[in-house]
Amino acid sequence: ATTFSTLRAPGEVGYVAGHRGDAEGGPENTLPALQAVLESSAEFVETDVQLTADGVPILMHDWTLDRTTDGTGPVWASTWEQVRELDAGSWVSPDFAGIRVPHLTEFLGILQPSGKHAIIELKGSWTAEQVIIVSNLVHDWDLQQRVVFASFDVKTLQAAQQVAPSIQRVIISREVNGDPQALAGTCGAIGIVTSMSFVQRNPEVVDRIHTAGLGVMLYTLNDEGTWSEAITLGVDGIITDTPAELGRWAGPE
Ligand code: G3P
Ligand code: CA
Repeated sequence: ATTFSTLRAPGEVGYVAGHRGDAEGGPENTLPALQAVLESSAEFVETDVQLTADGVPILMHDWTLDRTTDGTGPVWASTWEQVRELDAGSWVSPDFAGIRVPHLTEFLGILQPSGKHAIIELKGSWTAEQVIIVSNLVHDWDLQQRVVFASFDVKTLQAAQQVAPSIQRVIISREVNGDPQALAGTCGAIGIVTSMSFVQRNPEVVDRIHTAGLGVMLYTLNDEGTWSEAITLGVDGIITDTPAELGRWAGPE
Protein backbone atom coordinates (compact mmCIF):
# COMPACT_ATOMS: atom_id res chain seq x y z
CA ALA A 1 0.00 0.00 0.00
CA THR A 2 0.98 3.60 -0.40
CA THR A 3 3.25 4.77 2.36
CA PHE A 4 4.96 7.99 3.27
CA SER A 5 7.47 6.26 5.53
CA THR A 6 11.08 7.29 5.19
CA LEU A 7 12.19 4.90 2.46
CA ARG A 8 14.86 7.20 1.11
CA ALA A 9 18.53 7.66 1.87
CA PRO A 10 19.62 10.95 3.43
CA GLY A 11 20.17 13.57 0.76
CA GLU A 12 17.90 11.92 -1.78
CA VAL A 13 14.67 13.33 -3.13
CA GLY A 14 11.85 11.43 -1.46
CA TYR A 15 8.40 11.07 -2.92
CA VAL A 16 7.54 13.63 -5.55
CA ALA A 17 3.94 14.55 -6.22
CA GLY A 18 2.77 16.50 -9.24
CA HIS A 19 0.48 19.20 -7.89
CA ARG A 20 -2.74 19.34 -9.98
CA GLY A 21 -0.72 17.45 -12.61
CA ASP A 22 2.40 18.79 -14.29
CA ALA A 23 2.12 22.38 -15.49
CA GLU A 24 4.43 21.50 -18.41
CA GLY A 25 1.88 18.99 -19.69
CA GLY A 26 -1.26 21.09 -19.69
CA PRO A 27 -3.70 23.16 -17.64
CA GLU A 28 -4.03 22.20 -13.97
CA ASN A 29 -6.24 19.24 -13.10
CA THR A 30 -6.81 18.27 -16.74
CA LEU A 31 -5.98 14.85 -18.21
CA PRO A 32 -2.92 16.03 -20.21
CA ALA A 33 -1.37 17.58 -17.08
CA LEU A 34 -2.14 14.48 -15.02
CA GLN A 35 -0.88 12.15 -17.77
CA ALA A 36 2.40 14.10 -17.83
CA VAL A 37 2.98 13.20 -14.18
CA LEU A 38 2.23 9.54 -14.89
CA GLU A 39 4.96 9.65 -17.55
CA SER A 40 7.47 11.45 -15.30
CA SER A 41 9.65 9.99 -12.58
CA ALA A 42 7.25 11.24 -9.86
CA GLU A 43 5.66 8.58 -7.68
CA PHE A 44 2.45 10.51 -6.95
CA VAL A 45 0.04 12.72 -8.77
CA GLU A 46 -1.99 15.17 -6.69
CA THR A 47 -5.44 16.34 -7.72
CA ASP A 48 -8.47 18.07 -6.23
CA VAL A 49 -11.99 16.63 -6.25
CA GLN A 50 -15.34 18.39 -5.81
CA LEU A 51 -18.91 17.29 -6.40
CA THR A 52 -21.21 18.95 -8.90
CA ALA A 53 -24.80 19.87 -8.04
CA ASP A 54 -25.87 16.38 -9.09
CA GLY A 55 -23.15 14.64 -7.10
CA VAL A 56 -20.63 13.92 -9.87
CA PRO A 57 -16.97 13.97 -8.76
CA ILE A 58 -14.91 16.29 -10.96
CA LEU A 59 -11.32 17.50 -10.82
CA MET A 60 -11.17 21.18 -9.94
CA HIS A 61 -9.32 23.25 -7.39
CA ASP A 62 -11.33 26.46 -7.12
CA TRP A 63 -14.80 26.72 -5.62
CA THR A 64 -15.97 28.42 -8.79
CA LEU A 65 -15.59 27.64 -12.49
CA ASP A 66 -14.43 31.15 -13.30
CA ARG A 67 -10.62 30.98 -13.26
CA THR A 68 -9.96 27.67 -15.02
CA THR A 69 -12.88 27.37 -17.44
CA ASP A 70 -15.08 29.52 -19.65
CA GLY A 71 -17.96 28.99 -17.21
CA THR A 72 -18.96 30.96 -14.15
CA GLY A 73 -20.39 30.29 -10.71
CA PRO A 74 -19.80 27.75 -7.96
CA VAL A 75 -19.01 24.13 -8.78
CA TRP A 76 -21.73 22.95 -6.36
CA ALA A 77 -24.34 24.92 -8.32
CA SER A 78 -23.47 23.39 -11.73
CA THR A 79 -24.56 20.03 -13.05
CA TRP A 80 -22.18 17.56 -14.69
CA GLU A 81 -24.00 18.13 -17.97
CA GLN A 82 -23.10 21.81 -17.75
CA VAL A 83 -19.51 21.25 -16.56
CA ARG A 84 -18.67 18.70 -19.26
CA GLU A 85 -19.37 21.33 -21.96
CA LEU A 86 -16.84 23.80 -20.57
CA ASP A 87 -13.43 24.65 -22.01
CA ALA A 88 -10.80 24.10 -19.32
CA GLY A 89 -7.78 24.84 -21.53
CA SER A 90 -8.12 28.18 -23.33
CA TRP A 91 -7.41 30.18 -20.17
CA VAL A 92 -3.83 28.86 -20.33
CA SER A 93 -3.24 28.90 -24.10
CA PRO A 94 -5.21 28.60 -27.36
CA ASP A 95 -3.17 25.42 -27.90
CA PHE A 96 -5.20 23.81 -25.10
CA ALA A 97 -8.61 24.95 -26.36
CA GLY A 98 -11.29 22.31 -25.97
CA ILE A 99 -9.69 20.38 -23.12
CA ARG A 100 -12.47 19.36 -20.74
CA VAL A 101 -12.88 19.22 -16.98
CA PRO A 102 -12.26 15.56 -16.11
CA HIS A 103 -14.71 13.29 -14.34
CA LEU A 104 -12.82 11.52 -11.55
CA THR A 105 -13.32 8.18 -13.28
CA GLU A 106 -11.41 9.42 -16.36
CA PHE A 107 -8.43 10.21 -14.14
CA LEU A 108 -8.63 6.86 -12.33
CA GLY A 109 -8.74 5.21 -15.74
CA ILE A 110 -5.33 6.61 -16.70
CA LEU A 111 -3.90 6.13 -13.20
CA GLN A 112 -4.74 2.40 -13.08
CA PRO A 113 -2.37 1.17 -15.86
CA SER A 114 0.39 3.61 -14.84
CA GLY A 115 1.19 1.84 -11.59
CA LYS A 116 1.57 5.25 -9.88
CA HIS A 117 -0.01 6.58 -6.72
CA ALA A 118 -2.41 9.48 -6.28
CA ILE A 119 -3.14 11.99 -3.57
CA ILE A 120 -6.81 12.81 -4.02
CA GLU A 121 -7.65 15.96 -2.11
CA LEU A 122 -11.29 16.14 -1.08
CA LYS A 123 -11.87 19.89 -1.31
CA GLY A 124 -13.87 21.49 1.49
CA SER A 125 -16.07 19.48 3.86
CA TRP A 126 -17.51 16.10 2.89
CA THR A 127 -20.15 13.90 4.50
CA ALA A 128 -19.70 10.13 4.70
CA GLU A 129 -22.28 9.71 1.92
CA GLN A 130 -20.32 12.07 -0.32
CA VAL A 131 -17.00 10.32 0.39
CA ILE A 132 -18.61 7.02 -0.62
CA ILE A 133 -19.17 8.40 -4.14
CA VAL A 134 -15.41 8.78 -4.51
CA SER A 135 -14.33 5.68 -2.58
CA ASN A 136 -16.68 3.49 -4.64
CA LEU A 137 -14.99 4.70 -7.83
CA VAL A 138 -11.54 4.10 -6.34
CA HIS A 139 -12.60 0.54 -5.50
CA ASP A 140 -14.19 0.05 -8.93
CA TRP A 141 -10.78 0.77 -10.46
CA ASP A 142 -9.07 -1.43 -7.82
CA LEU A 143 -6.94 1.52 -6.77
CA GLN A 144 -7.52 1.45 -3.00
CA GLN A 145 -3.87 0.49 -2.40
CA ARG A 146 -2.55 3.35 -4.55
CA VAL A 147 -4.81 6.23 -3.57
CA VAL A 148 -4.42 8.43 -0.52
CA PHE A 149 -7.19 10.78 0.52
CA ALA A 150 -6.06 14.25 1.63
CA SER A 151 -7.97 17.07 3.23
CA PHE A 152 -7.52 20.17 5.32
CA ASP A 153 -10.73 19.11 7.10
CA VAL A 154 -10.39 16.56 9.93
CA LYS A 155 -14.11 15.74 9.87
CA THR A 156 -13.89 14.83 6.18
CA LEU A 157 -10.99 12.46 6.89
CA GLN A 158 -12.90 10.96 9.83
CA ALA A 159 -15.80 10.31 7.46
CA ALA A 160 -13.37 8.71 5.00
CA GLN A 161 -11.88 6.54 7.76
CA GLN A 162 -15.36 5.37 8.68
CA VAL A 163 -16.65 4.53 5.19
CA ALA A 164 -13.42 3.66 3.33
CA PRO A 165 -10.89 2.49 5.93
CA SER A 166 -8.76 0.66 3.35
CA ILE A 167 -7.89 3.94 1.59
CA GLN A 168 -5.16 5.72 3.50
CA ARG A 169 -5.36 9.34 4.59
CA VAL A 170 -3.07 12.34 5.00
CA ILE A 171 -3.99 15.55 6.70
CA ILE A 172 -3.06 18.87 5.14
CA SER A 173 -2.25 21.54 7.68
CA ARG A 174 -0.52 24.81 6.90
CA GLU A 175 0.98 24.72 10.41
CA VAL A 176 1.61 21.81 12.78
CA ASN A 177 1.41 23.11 16.31
CA GLY A 178 1.05 20.66 19.18
CA ASP A 179 1.44 16.90 19.01
CA PRO A 180 1.48 15.57 15.41
CA GLN A 181 0.30 12.15 16.63
CA ALA A 182 -2.73 13.75 18.26
CA LEU A 183 -3.53 15.60 15.02
CA ALA A 184 -3.12 12.54 12.80
CA GLY A 185 -4.72 10.23 15.36
CA THR A 186 -8.06 12.02 15.08
CA CYS A 187 -8.52 10.55 11.61
CA GLY A 188 -5.93 7.74 11.42
CA ALA A 189 -3.72 9.69 9.00
CA ILE A 190 -0.40 8.19 7.89
CA GLY A 191 1.21 11.55 7.26
CA ILE A 192 1.00 15.30 7.34
CA VAL A 193 1.25 17.63 4.36
CA THR A 194 2.42 21.02 5.53
CA SER A 195 3.81 24.26 4.16
CA MET A 196 7.46 25.04 3.53
CA SER A 197 7.08 28.43 5.23
CA PHE A 198 6.00 26.78 8.49
CA VAL A 199 8.83 24.22 8.38
CA GLN A 200 11.37 26.96 7.62
CA ARG A 201 10.32 28.72 10.79
CA ASN A 202 10.05 25.44 12.76
CA PRO A 203 12.58 22.97 11.29
CA GLU A 204 12.33 20.70 14.35
CA VAL A 205 8.78 19.82 13.34
CA VAL A 206 10.11 17.32 10.76
CA ASP A 207 11.67 15.25 13.55
CA ARG A 208 8.55 15.61 15.69
CA ILE A 209 6.38 14.27 12.87
CA HIS A 210 8.82 11.42 12.15
CA THR A 211 9.08 10.50 15.84
CA ALA A 212 5.30 10.18 15.84
CA GLY A 213 5.71 7.55 13.10
CA LEU A 214 4.25 9.77 10.40
CA GLY A 215 5.45 10.95 7.02
CA VAL A 216 5.82 14.59 6.08
CA MET A 217 5.33 16.17 2.68
CA LEU A 218 5.76 19.84 1.81
CA TYR A 219 3.71 21.94 -0.63
CA THR A 220 4.14 23.54 -3.13
CA LEU A 221 7.85 23.78 -3.99
CA ASN A 222 8.69 25.01 -7.46
CA ASP A 223 12.37 25.94 -7.52
CA GLU A 224 15.72 24.27 -7.00
CA GLY A 225 16.43 26.29 -3.86
CA THR A 226 13.42 24.98 -1.99
CA TRP A 227 13.89 21.44 -3.38
CA SER A 228 17.43 21.42 -1.91
CA GLU A 229 16.15 22.86 1.33
CA ALA A 230 13.43 20.20 1.59
CA ILE A 231 16.01 17.44 1.13
CA THR A 232 18.26 18.96 3.78
CA LEU A 233 15.28 19.17 6.13
CA GLY A 234 14.74 15.44 5.62
CA VAL A 235 11.12 15.50 4.48
CA ASP A 236 9.65 12.42 2.82
CA GLY A 237 7.97 14.08 -0.09
CA ILE A 238 7.83 17.20 -2.20
CA ILE A 239 4.68 18.46 -3.90
CA THR A 240 5.54 20.51 -6.97
CA ASP A 241 3.84 21.96 -10.05
CA THR A 242 6.74 20.73 -12.19
CA PRO A 243 7.60 17.13 -11.22
CA ALA A 244 9.29 16.34 -14.54
CA GLU A 245 11.63 19.31 -14.04
CA LEU A 246 12.34 18.17 -10.48
CA GLY A 247 13.11 14.72 -11.84
CA ARG A 248 15.62 16.17 -14.34
CA TRP A 249 17.19 18.26 -11.57
CA ALA A 250 17.48 15.27 -9.24
CA GLY A 251 19.18 13.23 -11.97
CA PRO A 252 18.85 9.55 -12.82
CA GLU A 253 17.04 7.42 -10.28
O1 G3P B 1 -1.53 19.02 -1.06
C1 G3P B 1 -1.41 20.32 -0.66
C2 G3P B 1 -2.01 21.30 -1.60
O2 G3P B 1 -2.56 20.68 -2.71
C3 G3P B 1 -3.03 22.09 -0.89
O3 G3P B 1 -3.22 23.31 -1.48
O4 G3P B 1 -4.75 24.90 -2.47
O5 G3P B 1 -3.12 23.68 -3.90
O6 G3P B 1 -5.06 22.50 -2.96
P1 G3P B 1 -4.08 23.59 -2.76
CA1 CA C 1 -4.71 20.27 -3.62
